Formats: sequence, structure tokens, C-alpha cells
Amino acid sequence: MNGTDLVVLSAILVAAIIYLKFDTLKELILSNDDDISATHGGSNDIVQMMQDNDKNYLVLYASQTGTAEDYAKRFAKELKSKFGLNVLCQDVENVDLENLHNLPSHIIVSFFISTYGEGDFPDGAVNFEQYLSTAQLSDLKYTLFGLGNYTYEFFNMAAKKALKMLTEADATLIGKLGLGDDGKGTTEEDYLSWKEETLETLHGFINLSEESTGFKPSFKLSFVDKISDDTYLGELTSDYLPSNNFTPPTTVSAKHPYVTPIAHAKELFKSVGRNCIHTEFDISNTTIKYQTGDHIAIWPFNANEKVEQFMTTFALQPNKIFNLEPLDPTMELPFPCPTTIETALRYYLEITGPVSRECLSVLSEFAPSEIKEYVISLSKDKDAFAQEITAKKFNLADALLYLSQGQAWSQVPWECLIETLSIITPRYYSISSASNADPSTIHVTSIVENDTNEITGSPTLGVTTNLLRNISLNMNDPNSTKIMPVQYDIRGPRNLYGGHKLPIHIRHSPFKLPTDLSIPIIMIGPGTGVAPFRGFIRDRVHSVGSGDANNMGKMMLFYGCRNEDDFLYQEEWPEYSSKLDGNFEMIVALSRVSDKKCYVQHKLKERQQDLVELLNQGANIYVCGDAVRMAKDVQRSICEMISQDKGISIEDAGEMIKAMKNNGKYQEDVW
Ligand SMILES: Cc1cc2nc3c(=O)[nH]c(=O)nc-3n(C[C@H](O)[C@H](O)[C@H](O)COP(=O)(O)OP(=O)(O)OC[C@H]3O[C@@H](n4cnc5c(N)ncnc54)[C@H](O)[C@@H]3O)c2cc1C
Ligand SMILES: NC(=O)c1ccc[n+]([C@@H]2O[C@H](COP(=O)([O-])OP(=O)(O)OC[C@H]3O[C@@H](n4cnc5c(N)ncnc54)[C@H](OP(=O)(O)O)[C@@H]3O)[C@@H](O)[C@H]2O)c1
Ligand SMILES: Cc1cc2nc3c(=O)[nH]c(=O)nc-3n(C[C@H](O)[C@H](O)[C@H](O)COP(=O)(O)O)c2cc1C
Ligand SMILES: *[C@@H]1O[C@H](CO)[C@@H](O)[C@H](O)[C@H]1NC(C)=O
Ligand SMILES: *[C@@H]1O[C@H](CO)[C@@H](O)[C@H](O)[C@H]1NC(C)=O
Ligand SMILES: *[C@@H]1O[C@H](CO)[C@@H](O)[C@H](O)[C@H]1NC(C)=O
Ligand SMILES: *[C@@H]1O[C@H](CO)[C@@H](O)[C@H](O)[C@H]1NC(C)=O
Ligand SMILES: *[C@@H]1O[C@H](CO)[C@@H](O)[C@H](O)[C@H]1NC(C)=O
Ligand SMILES: *[C@@H]1O[C@H](CO)[C@@H](O)[C@H](O)[C@H]1NC(C)=O
Repeated sequence: MNGTDLVVLSAILVAAIIYLKFDTLKELILSNDDDISATHGGSNDIVQMMQDNDKNYLVLYASQTGTAEDYAKRFAKELKSKFGLNVLCQDVENVDLENLHNLPSHIIVSFFISTYGEGDFPDGAVNFEQYLSTAQLSDLKYTLFGLGNYTYEFFNMAAKKALKMLTEADATLIGKLGLGDDGKGTTEEDYLSWKEETLETLHGFINLSEESTGFKPSFKLSFVDKISDDTYLGELTSDYLPSNNFTPPTTVSAKHPYVTPIAHAKELFKSVGRNCIHTEFDISNTTIKYQTGDHIAIWPFNANEKVEQFMTTFALQPNKIFNLEPLDPTMELPFPCPTTIETALRYYLEITGPVSRECLSVLSEFAPSEIKEYVISLSKDKDAFAQEITAKKFNLADALLYLSQGQAWSQVPWECLIETLSIITPRYYSISSASNADPSTIHVTSIVENDTNEITGSPTLGVTTNLLRNISLNMNDPNSTKIMPVQYDIRGPRNLYGGHKLPIHIRHSPFKLPTDLSIPIIMIGPGTGVAPFRGFIRDRVHSVGSGDANNMGKMMLFYGCRNEDDFLYQEEWPEYSSKLDGNFEMIVALSRVSDKKCYVQHKLKERQQDLVELLNQGANIYVCGDAVRMAKDVQRSICEMISQDKGISIEDAGEMIKAMKNNGKYQEDVW
């Protein structure tokens, strides 16, 4: 193949896939994923909304898991409180942008856009992307901040595409394109330096006269006397309130998760100190449907110890019942109300994640007086902050108690905490069951996050995975106590999760087996990356059982783990192998049993001949698991393999892989 062929081929494939993606994505969104209805009354025409609410600045965000949303809201809040602007801040998914070109020219728009999938816009922004691709916006002045992670091949591609389209639409960029990088863990610092520069530049376009500094609430807080049937005690939606007879939603989505029973759960590792939990959700009584290869979203809540630590840190009264009212009708409540302080901390707010420098800066105003000056200086010193707070993996309570040497930060207003913390978001897992073989259960394979920090010696514990472990231990031995460093109130709000249940919804993924059974498949999934491949193999075993298995293509699975102790589903594979009648082969790389590291990519090299043959027969390649190193190393190995086999340069082999990716022949499910 020569270079020109390659370019032409890739171009055709890219065009085809873009076309397909728009359609499939739209279909997915319209059929069952997140609701796209507007969440506020009245018109959702953007120009009308600006006018109706007397707004003079617009912030729009496109976010998958809420990071871009957080930054957009912070930016909007700062423009409001510092400069007295009337800012409208909206998700592009919830507004009609058709008339954006009619926006009065003195109004500036700030976009916050995160990248998903393979350099794509977030799911909810499909219409937005399509709109931009044909828009004429010669009067529009805008700023743009992108959120991404450099470990992905298409770094911040959605924001870059937006810039290109906006440029083609003749709009004017104010300042520079900002690029946040989660991969280096610098999103916060990237944002702060982008913001500083952008505000400087904005001065030339609008009157930004600093009004006052300090926290100004966006919600009116009031206290309520009694808990009623309408008070939220951790329910995620009104569906499950007593006043609504605890009625599960008929259409399950991110906005209406379903409280689903867990039928089985068990520990998969044989080692002590490292855990991996297998969990089976029973969806038989629900309207939830999934396909092999999809993702499940699990809605977690915080551990008792973390909630208590947080309340002590701020001297909060757990049982106070409160209500929030937006001071600005275009703003949504951060979580459902009325509710109690303890409920908000347990079920609605993310209290254990890393602390941002800006968060410390906001709270510094309320620091105990003896340390106030130090806190302010720390919040302004990037390097000191990184060393004193970030490197120690402190959460907010840890950090503040460390700074105050145990003294409570009792002056921080509750409204300020509500607005400074992020909202708890669901965690995604690659489903490890098959929709044909296991139509009524969804299996999850999750490694329990427990990293010991080198500096403090304390463990950093993942919220969801430790919750799943608590449930698993409790299901298998209700008497087991104190094995875990943290405990959860696993009965849930009003005992809603009693008998072992958790709220879930499904996110469809393009990571799919070929519909043509004869196409060979090469699967590479070390560690928990094996999860979707267990699903793939169970799917194929089921197909054999139901007789549609003539001419089934060869299936190779490259799996890697440390040793026999963390060999996932070790007892299941031989059975699958015998049922698949020689079509399935599993190749295992154990990395810690000899002096020399053995990884999946070493095994790939050993089997180069077979792999090349399968590729020439049109095999699909699937890679799942760690994106930081593994997926890249594996791609490099395959690239070398293709280059050797075809006698082409590494660059051309790389182009081929790109083309395969665009064509769905090389699929990744990496995180
Ligand atoms: C598409 C997709 C598929 C996935 N599939 C799987 C799968 O099949 N199996 C699987 O096990 N995982 C999977 N994951 C990862 C999973 O979604 C979760 O991210 C993971 O389980 C951790 O969730 P958690 O709530 O336990 O941890 P979190 O509480 O969300 O913590 C996340 C990480 O941050 C660290 N952390 C927490 N607090 C701090 C702090 N203060 N400072 C610094 N670091 C901190 C934690 O140690 C942890 O490593 C997938 C992710 C995606 C996006
Ligand atoms: N555990 C971590 O430190 C870490 C780091 C980044 C991300 N993560 C997250 O954890 C997920 C999966 O972790 P896990 O605990 O299931 O996996 P794991 O058990 O940590 O790893 C599975 C196997 O992959 C090996 N491995 C390590 N680096 C590799 C590489 N570059 N190429 C190929 N194989 C490699 C490991 O070997 P050795 O361990 O012997 O090297 C081990 O044998 C990742 O996808 C990611 O989300 C974990
Ligand atoms: C499944 C997945 C795919 C991603 N794909 C990309 C990508 O292709 N390019 C990129 O720069 N970042 C990618 N990211 C990183 C996100 O863009 C980044 O974490 C961002 O902060 C998320 O913002 P959000 O919470 O607003 O969606 C991906 C993240 C995940 C979990
Ligand atoms: C800024 O304010 C000053 C005084 O209020 C006014 O004269 C000027 O026109 C304003 N500039 C812009 C760009 O609105
Ligand atoms: C967490 O990890 C540490 C270090 O590996 C280990 O000693 C400890 O037992 C683990 N904790 C739990 C609860 O598994
Ligand atoms: C499904 O519903 C039936 C009837 O309400 C009930 O008896 C059964 O226990 C439910 N099964 C699960 C798994 O919830
Ligand atoms: C739990 O403890 C109770 C009382 O001590 C005992 O009767 C029961 O058998 C125990 N259950 C298990 C599963 O060990
Ligand atoms: C899990 O949490 C519950 C509290 O809901 C506790 O009673 C139980 O002992 C915990 N299980 C383990 C193994 O720690
Ligand atoms: C960036 O991506 C890598 C690979 O998926 C992941 O391990 C890392 O945690 C990501 N960074 C953040 C902060 O999400």
C-alpha cells in the first residue's frame, strides 16, 4: 500500500464513520440514554432565555461526567460575584442554539467542552456539534476552554474541532484556546492560568470592574422544621420518595437511575490486601436493557467515616433540614431539596476527591484566624500547594484539618460548602456478562481502589469500589465486621437499598463484537480489562449453544495479571474453551512469577505469525483496560507487527491502525 492509497482510504473511512456516529449517537440519545428535555419552564431558545432573564453574558458547556460543567459553573460564578455580570450558564444539551447568531454582539459566550470516546464531543453535544458545523456566527465573540487527557490519542479533540468550526463560522476568539489536561493532573492549574489570561483580555471587550471579592451565595438557604414524605434522605430522584409511593422509573436513564437488587457478589482475588469484586445486578424486574460490551453506571455514596470526618471538620449539625432556592431562575439546584446536611454529605456531594487550589482560595476567607494568612498564601502558591496538599492525596477535610492542626473550620457557611464541592457522579464499569447468555443479570468486575500514600502512609480509598466490597462482604457473611477501613450505611435512604440494592443505569458503548460470527477476533485485556471479554466469550458460548455457530471465527484472548492469585475468573475459562470447541484460545502473561516482566505485548510478539494471519483474514482487534501505559504499549507492538509483516514504515503502519480504528476494526475500551 502506498501513502496516497492510505490517505484516500482513511479519508473515506473517516467520512463514513463520522456519518455513522452522528446517526447512532442520535439514536442512542433519543431512544434511552439521558433525557434531553429542558429542565426549566419557558422557552429554551437561547436568545429568548438571555432576554427573558436579563442576562448579559453566556456560558455554555458540553460535559460527559460533569468536569466541564463544574468549571463552567465556577467561571460563571466568578463573573457574577466579582464583576456583577448577569450570567446565564447552560448545558448545550438543554438549550436551543438555532438563534445563536442573533445574540446581541455585546454579549460574549464562553464555551467549556470536554472530549470523549475517540476524540468525540460528549454524548449530549451531538446536536451542538452538528449545529457548529454549518453555523454562520460572524458577530459572535467567544472564549473556549477544552477538557481532555493527553493519554488519549485525540487530545482535547472536541475543543479543537469546536475552534475550527467556530473559526470557519467567522466567530472571534477572545484570548487563547485553553486546554485542560487530566492526564498530567493539571486541569485545575491549566484552568486557572487560562482564566487569568482570559479575564485580562476580556477587559478590552466588556467592563469588568471588580466589585468585591469574597463568597456570594447563588442560592437562598432556609431551614425546615420537620422531615416529611417530600424530604429527600438520599433518594436521587423524586421517583423513590414516599410521596411518590417509591415508584421506580419506567424509562431508566442518567436522570432516572433504577434502584436494582444485587443477586450475588463475591471476592475474585485470592490474595490479601488487594481486592476485586464481582457483582451481579438482577434486572429481571426492570425495564433495563443492555448489550454485550456496554457500560453500567453505578451511583455510589460516601462512607460513614468520611461523612463524620467532614461534619467534624466544619462543625456541622447533621440533622438540620434545609431547602435551597436559586437566586437566579436559570440556575438549577445542585441536588434535590429539601434534605438534611448529613444526607447531602452522604449521598449528593463528592467529599473525598482531590482538593483544588481554587477551592482552598474560596474557603480561605473563613479559615480560623491564626492560620488565615498562611492559607491565603498557600492557595496562591502553585508549587507549595502541590507539595503540601496534592502530593499527600488529602481530601478536603484532611487538608483543612492538617492546616488548622485539628481545629474545626466552623466559620465556613453551609451554602459555601454546597457550592464549592462537586456533586457525586456515577462510576462506569465495562459489563462482564453477555446480554444473550445473561439477559436478566449485569455482571461487574471492579478492582477495589486502595492506594497507600507514600508521604502520609494513609490509604486513599475509592468511593464506589469500597462500597461494592462492603456489600459483597455483608452479603456473604453478615457477621463480618471491621475487616474494612471504612463502613457504609448500605441500607440506603429510608432502607431503599436494604436487601442489597444500588441505583444504576446503562450507557451504550460502541465496543461491540462483529455481527458476522466468522470474523476472527483478537482481544487484549490485562487486569480488569478482561471484563468485557468475559462478556464477549459468554456471548459466543451462548451462540454455540443456540446453534448459530457454523464457521465461527477464531477468538484469541491475551490476558495478563501478576500471578495465580489475581487471575480473574480462572476456573471459568477452561469451560468456555471446551464449549467453543477449539475456536477460542487464551494466552496468559503472568508478570510477577519470574525475574523478567511478562506482559500481554510480549505474548503478542510470540504469536506474531498467528496474529498476522488473522489480521489478513480481516480480524477485529479489541483492547481494554489501562489507557495510561498498557493500551499505548499494545498499540505500539501491533504497529511494529504490521510494519514488519507488510514491509512498510512504522508511520504507515500507524496510519493503518488509525484507519482500522475509524473503521471499527481496532476498538478500545480504555480508562
Ligand atoms: C468506560 C469506563 C469503564 C470502566 N470499567 C471498569 C471496570 O470494568 N472495572 C473497574 O474496576 N474499573 C472500571 N472503570 C473505572 C471506574 O469507573 C472507577 O473509576 C473506579 O472503579 C474507581 O471508582 P471509585 O469510586 O472506587 O474511586 P473514586 O472515589 O472515584 O476515586 C478514583 C481514584 O482517585 C483516587 N483518589 C480519591 N481521593 C483522592 C484524593 N483526595 N487525592 C488524590 N487521589 C484521590 C482514588 O484512589 C482512586 O484511584 C471504568 C471507567 C470507565 C470510564
Ligand atoms: N494499579 C495501578 O497502579 C494503576 C495505574 C494506572 C491506572 N490504573 C487503573 O487500574 C485499571 C486496571 O488495573 P488493574 O489493577 O486491573 O490491573 P493490574 O492488576 O494493575 O495490571 C494487570 C496486569 O497488567 C500488567 N501491566 C502493567 N503495566 C503494563 C503495561 N504497560 N502493559 C501491559 N501490561 C501491563 C501488570 O503487571 P505489573 O503490575 O506486574 O507491572 C499486571 O500483570 C487501569 O485500567 C486503570 O484504570 C491502575
Ligand atoms: C472513556 C473516556 C474517553 C475519553 N476520551 C478522551 C479523548 O479522546 N481525548 C481527550 O483529550 N480526553 C479524553 N477523555 C478525558 C476527558 O475528556 C477528561 O477526563 C475530562 O476532564 C472529562 O470532562 P467531563 O467530566 O466534563 O466529561 C476521556 C475520558 C474517558 C473517561
Ligand atoms: C465601560 O464603562 C464606561 C463608563 O461606565 C463607558 O463609558 C464605556 O463605554 C464602557 N465600555 C464598554 C465596552 O462597555
Ligand atoms: C490497603 O492496601 C494496603 C497496602 O497494600 C494493605 O496493607 C491493606 O490491607 C489494604 N486495605 C484493605 C482494607 O484491603
Ligand atoms: C420481581 O418481582 C416479583 C413480584 O413483585 C417479586 O416476587 C420478586 O422477588 C422480584 N424479583 C426481584 C429480583 O426483585
Ligand atoms: C452471625 O451471628 C449470629 C449470632 O452470633 C449467628 O447465629 C449466625 O449463625 C452468624 N451467621 C453467620 C453467617 O456466621
Ligand atoms: C458494611 O457496612 C455495614 C454498615 O452498613 C456494617 O454493618 C458491616 O459490618 C460492613 N461490612 C464489613 C465487612 O465491614
Ligand atoms: C487520564 O487518563 C488515564 C488513562 O485513562 C487515567 O488513568 C487517568 O486517571 C486520567 N486522569 C484523570 C485525572 O482522570
